[in-house]
Amino acid sequence: MLLGKVKNLEVLHRNTAAMNSIDDIDIQGQEVLLRTDLNLPIEDGEPQKTVRFKRYLETVEELSDRGAKTVVMAHQGRPGRNDFMSLKKHSEILSDSLGNEVEFIPGFFGPELAEAVEDMDEGGVALLENVRFLSEELRNASAEQHAEDIFVKRIAPEFDLYVDDAFSAAHRSHGSMVGFTKKLDSYAGPVMEKELESCGKVRDRFDNGVLVLGGEKPSDLIGILDEMIESVDKVLLGGIPGELALIIEGHDLGEKKQWIEDHGLDSKKGELERVINNYSEKVVLPEDVRTDSGEYRVEEIPDEMTWDIGPETAEKFAEEIRDAESVVMKGPMGAFEEHPEGTRKIVKAMAESDAYTVLGGGHTSSLVQRFNYELEDFSHVSIAGGAFVRYLSGEKLAAVEALR
Ligand code: 3PG
Repeated sequence: MLLGKVKNLEVLHRNTAAMNSIDDIDIQGQEVLLRTDLNLPIEDGEPQKTVRFKRYLETVEELSDRGAKTVVMAHQGRPGRNDFMSLKKHSEILSDSLGNEVEFIPGFFGPELAEAVEDMDEGGVALLENVRFLSEELRNASAEQHAEDIFVKRIAPEFDLYVDDAFSAAHRSHGSMVGFTKKLDSYAGPVMEKELESCGKVRDRFDNGVLVLGGEKPSDLIGILDEMIESVDKVLLGGIPGELALIIEGHDLGEKKQWIEDHGLDSKKGELERVINNYSEKVVLPEDVRTDSGEYRVEEIPDEMTWDIGPETAEKFAEEIRDAESVVMKGPMGAFEEHPEGTRKIVKAMAESDAYTVLGGGHTSSLVQRFNYELEDFSHVSIAGGAFVRYLSGEKLAAVEALR
């Protein structure tokens, strides 16, 4: 059955059941705590305006247009990583993009937050400091436990309601993702709703579907395969998962085999082998690859690094995509920064297809911009990485459960 690019109300209902929506309430003049995910790639110290940023800009604009007084809460990086930094710059790019000043609130416990909310006009927007600067935030705990966090208890009374729009962090049972649901009337934001609707469509009803799986981490994909392989027609394996599958099939991947082992990317080799053996009629492997010196059939790979699927594989995968009624892609087909050909061909086939097409995962969603497509060329471009994988793997997401 063709799922099409229209809303499937039955599935939407199942996935967002029992979650309150801000569409159903009047938020004019309401003091809103909005949890977004502004965890952005940082280049030369500057946060990048990715698809994720644009999506949250739309949410903030909507709340502002509807007259809410919005304080945005978000995180950036995590302790110990280079991208763990203040959200001051995020407030500047938000201000530029909105065309209105977004006040930056540097502290959680001082008077600044209460003052900012009190002085805010209807439609006003402010951004709180990186919530992961608070050690309580990162604890994996239940909603009830996080409701007792000092910062949750301190911040909640400043607001009328809590809107969680951070689908891409929804797998984290962190303070700002679950704690406020026990303290304030809580609603799903538009990004959260759209992600659950669109990813739910392919997870729950994936007829005549093709799964395109690539990227760097085969271990991420086993859950998706286990959850979805029964219902899909074909699984096209590229990237490191495709190469690991070739090794399993006994092909000599020369230098790349060693590299995969050295990076621990073969940890789920046994599980991938089980899937390939049990579903050999569905799993399609690369037939040729690209190395530094050229393109080779998989029987003739020289002792060099492999970088991408080869042109015959790309054409074969594109043909499968052209015949499908729904297509999900997670992960590029190779090292797409230097060797974009294989990945570009797959993304092009999806963009030109009338099927229900979903792109997911951090790298994968950035391919839209890289290959000069519009978000509208696909049925859905998910802004999530880990949450997307877990959701398609059938796991419950802590923040979604808390909202319910
Ligand atoms: C993401 O970018 O996937 C989310 O912001 C979650 O980030 P985390 O993996 O650091 O928790």
